[in-house]
Formats: sequence, structure tokens, C-alpha cells
Amino acid sequence: MRGAPPQVLQLLPLAKASFVAQSYFAPCIPFLVDRPCLSRKGKYYMKLPSCAFHNQYVACGSYRGDRTKFVSDMNIQKKSDNFDRQNQSLRSQQAREAQQMWDCRFAEFPWPEEPDRKLVELAGELSPGTCVDLGCGPGRNAIWLASRGWAVTGVDASSVGLDQAQSRAREIGVSLITVNQDILAYSPDEPVDLVVVANIHLVEPARTEFFTLCAQMLKSQGHLFVTGHHLKDLGRTGPPDSDKLYTIERIQDSVAGITEIVEIIELAELVKEPGPDGYSETDVYLWARRQ
Ligand SMILES: C[S@@+](CC[C@H](N)C(=O)[O-])C[C@H]1O[C@@H](n2cnc3c(N)ncnc32)[C@H](O)[C@@H]1O
Repeated sequence: MRGAPPQVLQLLPLAKASFVAQSYFAPCIPFLVDRPCLSRKGKYYMKLPSCAFHNQYVACGSYRGDRTKFVSDMNIQKKSDNFDRQNQSLRSQQAREAQQMWDCRFAEFPWPEEPDRKLVELAGELSPGTCVDLGCGPGRNAIWLASRGWAVTGVDASSVGLDQAQSRAREIGVSLITVNQDILAYSPDEPVDLVVVANIHLVEPARTEFFTLCAQMLKSQGHLFVTGHHLKDLGRTGPPDSDKLYTIERIQDSVAGITEIVEIIELAELVKEPGPDGYSETDVYLWARRQ
């Protein structure tokens, strides 16, 4: 089955497509395709992160459909000549995977524009200063902060996401600095007043290392905001890898080594408004301040 053309996936029912996708991409994707997720709109989809295969192609995209009809939005591209060169600027494997997956995701489906509700509530109380939004994507939080007078730098591996952020910032007349870089290797020139980490789901030990880097970016009295999907929503939203999802205890463990420099102000679950299917997703968020 490995030699089958990618289009074959479009014709198959969900379970079989899953099997074929696993076989076809087995050399490069040991993950994901076996578990369809239920999206808010009640459609099934499977995320297939970009991957290189046969050393010549890049595959990325998502699958969606209902139980009987299965649609593939797979995008198979021949590697551009500068593909490897571009990727070398993104240091970690995780960042390279993020770039490939999120470039496709942002190009295919519109990303929400409303800022995170908890961020609005918490940062809305602060006087504007300097801010870094790590993994800002198309910039819903960065743009909201910029519109409130913050000097925001959005960092992301996805150039598609950053282009979308810049074009929306221009549309609404706010200024935003964007940096196409690995957030696991980024450090601002000067310490900042606010670091935002929204929906970045990493496995340990990367999560602990990343939160430590975030804390080190803060000025004294600067704030750190982290939010992400709760483990209980596994299979509904967020990454289909349980180790990446958040619980209060996991965040506590990840910040345990930095509690001497960062004071936890709030660490809690936030149950969101129900979606169209009546289900309320849960986020976990952290609001902390550098001593
Ligand atoms: C789920 S989206 C969240 C976007 C935005 N923070 C929000 O909440 O709307 C995750 C973003 O993190 C970025 N990302 C993940 N890992 C990254 C890494 N190592 N370096 C840079 N960007 C990364 C992806 O490119 C993507 O834009």
C-alpha cells in the first residue's frame, strides 16, 4: 500500500483511510492518524501533521467528513529547493514539525480572531508595556494586546500564521513585530512586561524548559500567562497526544523549579461556553508574576 498515490485516501471510509494513511506514511509518521477527532461542528477530522516522505515530498493537511463520507484535504507538495535551508533556521525538530503542520492549517482554515477570554480579563487590568506572544499564530492575542497599547512581538515557526497576523494588524491599524523563529530558542533583546503562551502543547521535559525560558524573559513584576487544552478534552480538541495536554498538576510540576523567581497568582481550570454540540471544553491557565 505504501506506493499508492495519495489520492486513494480520498475514496476510503474513515477507518480504512486511517489504516492506509498509517501504512503509506509509516516511514515518517508514527502518530496521529489512528484517532479521528470530533470537531465543534460535529464533523470528524484527522490531523495529519506535515511530514517528509520519499525524501522528495511534503504532505500536510487534515481530513474531515462525517461517519459515512470522508473527505481529504490532503496537500502533497514537492519539496521546494530551499525547503531544507528554510528549515535549518528552525532549530528544534518540534519547531520544524510545527511549521509544516501550522502553515498548512492556517492556509486551509480560518483561525479564530477573538482573543483568549482569560487573557483579556487578566491583562486588561495591567498598564500596557512590552509583550512577547510565543507561538502567536495568526495573532488573535497579540493583535488584541497591540490594540490596547502594548508593544507586542509575536514569535512563531509558521510564516503563514505570521503573514496573517501582519495583514490583520495592518487592516485594523495596529503595529506588531513578528519573528519567524523557534520559540524554544527565542530570547527577547530586553526583558518584557508580559509573556503570553496560548495553546502551545509540549511534552516534558520541553514544557518545563520552555516555561523556565518564559520566566527568564520577564522583567521584575512582569507577568506570565499560559493557557492550553485540558487533558479531559483529549480526542475532542487540541493535540491528540495525551502527554501534551494540560492539568493543574502538570503545570504545577512544570513550574516547580521556577517558583523562586515566579509567583503563581492563579492556576485554575476554565470551563468555556458550550459549543454547538452542547459540550463545554476546559482550558487550564496560569497567571504568574516575576518576583
Ligand atoms: C495552536 S496554535 C496557537 C496560536 C495562538 N497562540 C492562539 O492561541 O491562537 C500553536 C502555534 O504555535 C506555533 N508553534 C508551536 N511550536 C513552535 C515552536 N517550537 N516554535 C515556534 N512556533 C511554534 C505554531 O506554529 C502555531 O502557530
